Amino acid sequence: MTVRKVPDVTFRTRVRDETIEGPNPFRWEDKTTADYFAGKRVVLFSLPGAFTPTCSTFQLPDFEKLYAEFQAQGIDEIYCVSVNDAFVMNAWGKTQGLENVKLIPDGSGEFTRKMGMLVAKDNLGFGMRSWRYAAVVNNGIVEKWFEEEGFSDNCQSDPYGVSSPQNILENLKAGDAVAA
Ligand code: BEZ
Repeated sequence: MTVRKVPDVTFRTRVRDETIEGPNPFRWEDKTTADYFAGKRVVLFSLPGAFTPTCSTFQLPDFEKLYAEFQAQGIDEIYCVSVNDAFVMNAWGKTQGLENVKLIPDGSGEFTRKMGMLVAKDNLGFGMRSWRYAAVVNNGIVEKWFEEEGFSDNCQSDPYGVSSPQNILENLKAGDAVAA
């Protein structure tokens, strides 16, 4: 079995800083893959874009609601990564009222590319984005992998099923050994 590791990259996040005056009290904070993944068992999911309908109506809110059930299955954190910059991801998190799921901005697509999940979505004017997938990642090692069918550039539809929180929870509860 191939051992798949999440790639080492630096994510450029924006964090609130009360020492900054004015209408935009945020500063840049670099976070590495190790900051997010070292010593934790997490669910990572990725999607085509912040604010897109399926992601905003089902995928992200459902992960948020089911967080306690994931914790009960030994999951420490749930991360949502998207090829969007930190400003967009923060704005999306705010509109979603997130308390549980943490958003990771992969604005340059480096993490997604190194995961092998970068696809063109030029047909929608999106440029390069992530194919929809999810994984259970234990201390940086992919333990379970959930990739939507039909990985391709400029796909006419964006399937959503296997990477849903409901499917991943079911898999965790069943103790299925689905590996990368
Ligand atoms: C969505 O609903 O998730 C979606 C819509 C357009 C492009 C990509 C995703």
